[in-house]
Amino acid sequence: MNAIELLKHDHETLKQVFERLGKTTERGVKTRGELMRHLHEELTIHTRLEEEIFYPAFKAASGKEGDILFHEATEEHRAVEALILPDLEKTEPSSVEFAGRAKVLKDMVGHHIEEEEQEMLPKAGELLGEERLEELGAQMETRRKELRRQLSGERAA
Ligand SMILES: [Fe+2]
Ligand SMILES: [Fe+2]
Repeated sequence: MNAIELLKHDHETLKQVFERLGKTTERGVKTRGELMRHLHEELTIHTRLEEEIFYPAFKAASGKEGDILFHEATEEHRAVEALILPDLEKTEPSSVEFAGRAKVLKDMVGHHIEEEEQEMLPKAGELLGEERLEELGAQMETRRKELRRQLSGERAA
């Protein structure tokens, strides 16, 4: 998969987890817990791949317009990882607040994904070219495996 296909594939995975989470209720404590672990892992890995590999490549190839997209996207990651996700993770899955907070996270990530797919990814496609996109895709696959190992190690510890 080239870098753009890989990122879009991740986006679909994330949307599916949010869909499933949205269908749970206060009674589905176990399911909510499992989906939250899944979401944490997928979101963390995807964000790292973008910030470590894809965004810098995009930023290096793009001009001022790309610079704005880069900073906007990075700030959205920060808001999700530093504020919205931890807030939801602290929320008791059996509480009525949980669904509302999950919805806010879903909307925030959904908006971010849409902007990436409509603005950054098409622009990156034009700027980087097929060969570079393949190379970045391969780098991200390798890094994904490392991150997954790290995260499952942390869970086991
Ligand atoms: Fe992103
Ligand atoms: Fe993304």
